[in-house]
Amino acid sequence: MLKKIHIFTTSKLLTEVHKNFQVYRGVDYYYYYVLSIPGTATDPRCCDRDAALPDCFPIRLSPKDAFYSLFKQDCMSVVRSVPGVREGCKFGPRAQINTVPSYIDGNWVYGSSLEVANRLRLHKGGLLKSLPVFREFGLKDLLPLKLVDPDDGCIRPSTDLYCFDAGDLRVNEQLVLAVIHTLMMREHNRVAVELSRINPHWGDEELFHEARHITAAEIQHITYNEYLPMILGKEVMEKFGLILEKHGYFEGYDPSIDPSMSANFITAAFRFGHSLLPSTIERWSPAHKYIGSQRLSELLRQPYDLYKGGWCDQFLMGLSNQVAQAMDDAITQEVCEQKLLFYNGIF
Ligand code: HEM
Repeated sequence: MLKKIHIFTTSKLLTEVHKNFQVYRGVDYYYYYVLSIPGTATDPRCCDRDAALPDCFPIRLSPKDAFYSLFKQDCMSVVRSVPGVREGCKFGPRAQINTVPSYIDGNWVYGSSLEVANRLRLHKGGLLKSLPVFREFGLKDLLPLKLVDPDDGCIRPSTDLYCFDAGDLRVNEQLVLAVIHTLMMREHNRVAVELSRINPHWGDEELFHEARHITAAEIQHITYNEYLPMILGKEVMEKFGLILEKHGYFEGYDPSIDPSMSANFITAAFRFGHSLLPSTIERWSPAHKYIGSQRLSELLRQPYDLYKGGWCDQFLMGLSNQVAQAMDDAITQEVCEQKLLFYNGIF
């Protein structure tokens, strides 16, 4: 029965949308490939200590600059994207390498390499590893601890406090992203348990990959059925044939179309999402009652509130109840003030 499940990876929808819009890599969010993420112990400091690194490209600012002079900032620490081979291995301007697949395959849940996938798997019952901290209270598990490179992309107040591990190393960029990763890890495990119930003869390998296919298909469906219509609007969806079939399967998959992301889209256009960020992150109850909120800046690379019983689920309820920000030319100060994420001025 399960073999018949249609995975949209084989659909024209994917290849076309990637070719034409290069819209994100799954609910794959905004998975970019910067050399390192500013603000943690392993980040290059291109304005001083690491200026001589070949991947540093610091921008010196005029002392008369109307904006930056107010903050006495005279340099932007720009780190260049990792160089890659150009199409056809031809000489030409520097091209970038994308370290995650362009297909919407749930790589942020499972990793983009066998090594990461093996690290995340429990190798039992098709399950992903999880942290059973709240099981005795009837609450679902959290993500496993980030034990490899624990400081990378994570601000740790002490060495015995850990961030979380997931298929993409940006999982701890901000708490709510870690919440979405937690949701999909839980979903994978829910599907794997259900599959093993109806297929008791299946082993770990079969259960894992079938659960992965189903979870990836769910992500694809959310992307095309919910996310893209909101971002692109009905007209664009229709114009480019992106509206999902109501019945049957799509037969037009063309394997000759290159689905790679364009550098322009990933490094510039898709950053439109930064305008949507709220200043505070709300928590709501299962009965849709507002509980409380925190400043976004306090949750950057510090997902530790998830260790409080029930908070992960309250943040999830917040995600469905909090009103989204408009897409405009403004961005919240919570991510661009001095010492915060975009303090270099690169949005
Ligand atoms: C609280 C939420 C978010 C935070 C804290 C955040 C943080 C970051 C950071 C630190 C970078 C790297 C900046 C640099 O170039 O040095 C980045 C890049 C980027 N972000 Fe976000 N971001 C958030 C939400 C979003 C959303 C919602 C989207 C899109 C819908 C998005 C799209 C991108 C893109 C496309 C890049 C560039 C990727 C690349 O160069 O490869 N971000 N973000």
